[in-house]
Amino acid sequence: MEQLANGEAWRYTVGLLERVSSPGYCAKSSKQDVPRRDRLLHSSPTEKSGSNLASRIEILERCSRSDIVMYWIDPASGRIEGLVDVTELHDAERQREHALRLLSHDMRSPQASIVALVETERERGTLDLKPVRDVMERIERYARRSLTLADDFVQLARAESQVYTFESTSLAELAIAASDEVWPQAHAKRIQIDTTFEGDQMGWINANRSLMMRALVNVLNNAVKYSPPDTRIVCAIALDEATPPRVICSIRDEGDGITHEDQVNLFEPFRRFHASERPEVGGVGLGMAFVKTVVMRHGGDIHVESEPGKGTTLKMSLPARDAPV
Ligand SMILES: Nc1ncnc2c1ncn2[C@@H]1O[C@H](COP(=O)(O)OP(=O)(O)OP(=O)(O)O)[C@@H](O)[C@H]1O
Ligand SMILES: [Mg+2]
Repeated sequence: MEQLANGEAWRYTVGLLERVSSPGYCAKSSKQDVPRRDRLLHSSPTEKSGSNLASRIEILERCSRSDIVMYWIDPASGRIEGLVDVTELHDAERQREHALRLLSHDMRSPQASIVALVETERERGTLDLKPVRDVMERIERYARRSLTLADDFVQLARAESQVYTFESTSLAELAIAASDEVWPQAHAKRIQIDTTFEGDQMGWINANRSLMMRALVNVLNNAVKYSPPDTRIVCAIALDEATPPRVICSIRDEGDGITHEDQVNLFEPFRRFHASERPEVGGVGLGMAFVKTVVMRHGGDIHVESEPGKGTTLKMSLPARDAPV
């Protein structure tokens, strides 16, 4: 990526040439000769010196409003090289990061102050009068709700946009850690969470651990929230020996279930299906959208099987990798 003094950003790209054969050819605006973007390989601008790149940009004339502004053939390698104007994309990324920072810090802090004030007054014993206490508790509930909303929204936006770093991870170990995290809520309802590994399968995948962990916690949290007391949740890890192999993680509960019509919208943000019959169950409606985003960004997929009144199974399938030696 090259950032010029005038604020424009350019990405230098190199791709294999397939359709254009004459050296020095410039694509002007003829779209059909522009190589498909997924065939372009990005290369670091440092491969060419910065000044070289800058002087080339100076002589460039914008061919069109398309992403690929200019490209040419390197006669020595026969490769196609190009310059892509990513100024607008860059600006949009900066604005999004700015908005997320605003939301996660500036808009969060007054809500956090409200919660802290109510807690202080409770400790000082000034909320002993029932009407005062009731009002303060409602204020606290609303403040906590908007804090959760801001946090979940920022988490989802970051899961959608951030560059993921992957490391070799056992999905089985993550599932155990996620079960531990939801244990207090499960215990309060006497719900048992069992984790099973088919054939000692530890489910090795390449994962961004904290995002995948949060995704598993979200699914388990839902299983606990939408299940009656004294039921069981089973989290099973297995290996599908397809080519290429996949790790399958299914989380099954014996809870309220989801109707077939609602299942279609389960992964849409802000969709909640039990809010009217179960108003006591809190939530924002962003948990499953986050799960789907994270699973997809790991090259996986997720689907739901559910029967109202009988329970729900969330099944995730992720590309498997060899166990580390
Ligand atoms: N295991 C489940 N059993 C029954 N209903 C479920 C289950 N998981 C999700 N749902 C339904 O899908 C809706 C969306 O789930 P999602 O996790 O996105 O939101 P939420 O749990 O309401 O809020 P939060 O953003 O705090 O997770 C839930 O409100 C609930 O109606
Ligand atoms: Mg949820």
